[in-house]
Amino acid sequence: MKITVIGAGYVGLVTAACLADTGNEVMCVEKVSSKLETLKKGESPIYEPGLTEVLKKNIASGNIRFTDSIEDGAKFAEALFLCVGTPQSDSGKADLSQVEEAARHIAEVAEGYKLIIEKSTVPVNTHRRVKMTLKRYANPNVVFDVASNPEFLREGSALYDFTNPDRIVAGVESERAKAIFEELYKPFTEKGFPLLITTPAAAELIKHASNSFLALKISYINMVADLCEKVGADIELVAEGMGHDKRIGRAFLNAGLGYGGSCFPKDIKAFINMADENGVDFSLLQEADYINASRRTKYLAKIEDLLWIIKDKKICIWGLAFKPNTDDIREAPAIDIVRELTEQGAELRLCDPKAEENFRRLFPENGQIKYYDDMYKAAEGADALLLITEWKEFVEADIKKLKSIMTLPLVIDGRNAFKPEKMKELGVEYYSIGR
Ligand code: UDX
Repeated sequence: MKITVIGAGYVGLVTAACLADTGNEVMCVEKVSSKLETLKKGESPIYEPGLTEVLKKNIASGNIRFTDSIEDGAKFAEALFLCVGTPQSDSGKADLSQVEEAARHIAEVAEGYKLIIEKSTVPVNTHRRVKMTLKRYANPNVVFDVASNPEFLREGSALYDFTNPDRIVAGVESERAKAIFEELYKPFTEKGFPLLITTPAAAELIKHASNSFLALKISYINMVADLCEKVGADIELVAEGMGHDKRIGRAFLNAGLGYGGSCFPKDIKAFINMADENGVDFSLLQEADYINASRRTKYLAKIEDLLWIIKDKKICIWGLAFKPNTDDIREAPAIDIVRELTEQGAELRLCDPKAEENFRRLFPENGQIKYYDDMYKAAEGADALLLITEWKEFVEADIKKLKSIMTLPLVIDGRNAFKPEKMKELGVEYYSIGR
């Protein structure tokens, strides 16, 4: 099938690459020229495991090509995916100007039949607005369908998630649109992955409701962790016990510094805002978001309590990305932690396998901040080590070696990545969350 993907950001690029890899002919539209040049060379502007390989392969086979012309993209295919940015405004409301702009451009040049598919996360009933825009700006002979096909991709495993989905959701309003999705996703449904056909409004809601629910689950376990600390129970055992209940499940019950990234913080705020605009009080989610923010202040309070005076202390930080296997630092706990500790005069030694470059843009190296490629060099002479992101290499660290190189073997683990018994056995002063 011929497919156009508008926007080569995280979602657009993974969608374009994976659909090309399943045998479709994909045209990907990106207006930022520096990004476009990188893509044309077969390189990925973002770090995502496996993406460069799939891009290179499909550029070589001619299954994917890149352009800055939305006109070409609009003419190329019947099915067009909108993968443009939907940033958050100050009120938490999604800024949909890029969605409107893309719909308008498509309308102006479209001929025949077009299926416009919302892939970016948008508030419920955005499809109505898109339809209205298309009608207003298009030639009356053009037939449009608007559908919602939300993505559920996790950064770091986006290609796997695309090709092994728990479910594919397609919210459609016509048989013609439904048939396009059935054909497009046949390589996946044939393998047994479910394709759920819904209305556009339900599909839009499924995305926001799913992400907000996962965020809620994280905040819930973090509150249980607070209680565990007070009563002397171990949150890992509690989570395991809860997780065995199939109705609850163990996933997303990891206590720690809470959620960050480009999705959960933004989606939960947008969902609260959307509910509010529709007269529904979703203060349950407001509370979840508040709990999440308080994880960072609580962790900082723990550091202060343990170190007493922060000024001039050498603190090593392992992990800057919002989670492992990504270079993304959007809404990462490390940002707040580094900001606060530098304000208090600490000397910070930072290490992250992939996120250093992005982090350097926010916090350039200076007298107080130094970056290290080698995780042990970063810890040399440190008064404390903070584990902020649970990258595999950190979780599997040689603790004996770590202890021998630190001035004080004090480890404050924000992700419950290490075993307390092992730390005790090795003589490390160890603190974690809810244990
Ligand atoms: C998320 C959704 O999982 C995905 O379906 C959606 O489309 C995009 O948003 P992502 O942001 O890549 O994906 O990260 P995810 O792996 O879901 O983790 C989100 C955050 O929650 C991370 O900051 C992670 O550290 C945190 N988290 C996750 C916890 O604190 N505890 C957990 O148990 C799980």
